[in-house]
Amino acid sequence: MKNITVLTGAGISAESGIRTFRDSDGLWENHRVEDVASPQGFAKNPVLVWDFYKARYQQSLDAEPNPAHYALTRLEEHFGDSFNLITQNVDGLHIRAGNTRVYEMHGRLAMAFCSSCRSKTATSELDFSQKIPICTTCGGNMRADIVWFGEIPYYLYEIDEILKNTDFLLILGTSGVVYPAAGFVMTAKIFGATTIAVNLEEPENRRYLDEFYPGKCGELVPQIVDKLIQNYGGR
Ligand code: OAD
Repeated sequence: MKNITVLTGAGISAESGIRTFRDSDGLWENHRVEDVASPQGFAKNPVLVWDFYKARYQQSLDAEPNPAHYALTRLEEHFGDSFNLITQNVDGLHIRAGNTRVYEMHGRLAMAFCSSCRSKTATSELDFSQKIPICTTCGGNMRADIVWFGEIPYYLYEIDEILKNTDFLLILGTSGVVYPAAGFVMTAKIFGATTIAVNLEEPENRRYLDEFYPGKCGELVPQIVDKLIQNYGGR
């Protein structure tokens, strides 16, 4: 069976109503990225940062997976252990759609951890009555389980192994600007994979792509998935 790997970014959730990052002049909901997505920003103004992540968490709960997410669950059903999904998204929509082989490399809004003792708690369990939720184990400040700028993404070792062994890398809805994810296409290509992308605009790393389909994930991904299943079988 062929190994199929998918890398997703904010564009795949756009049709679920979640705004992408680079469509508003580098501002996230009117905040500068470094104010709300860095350890320094959190140290300076934890209340602002928590207000931002509470709003993003609520937005993710209100959103529903779209046809592109569901197409990827079909791909996993067919390819089983030969399928892996790496996502830069923190909205949890792939898991809600039914994918299980998911690597959430930038963390997830649904979890938080203590900035002192690092114990984890579901965001839904946090007590927000104090504005900054407090760790019930050690009394430290809880923070969103999101990989901020200057921090190291999760699962990099596992992802490297997956990329080196994949036959196809499907890159969906990402601008190809933020590393290390933007460099995954190079690893896969050097190790012999066919690289295919769908995005509204040409991604920054276009030169490493064998095929690029400009357009919306919700429209194009189900078609590409049908073709992969038809041509490479699976279950
Ligand atoms: P970006 O906002 O940089 O890119 C999203 C891409 O999706 C853009 O190139 C859009 O053109 C495209 N797009 C929008 N709607 C689409 C649709 N319906 N179908 C297809 N493409 C569409 O988001 P990412 O590449 O995911 O990091 O950004 C990568 C990382 O940068 C994020 O994970 C985040 C951010 O800083 C962290 O939070 C650590």
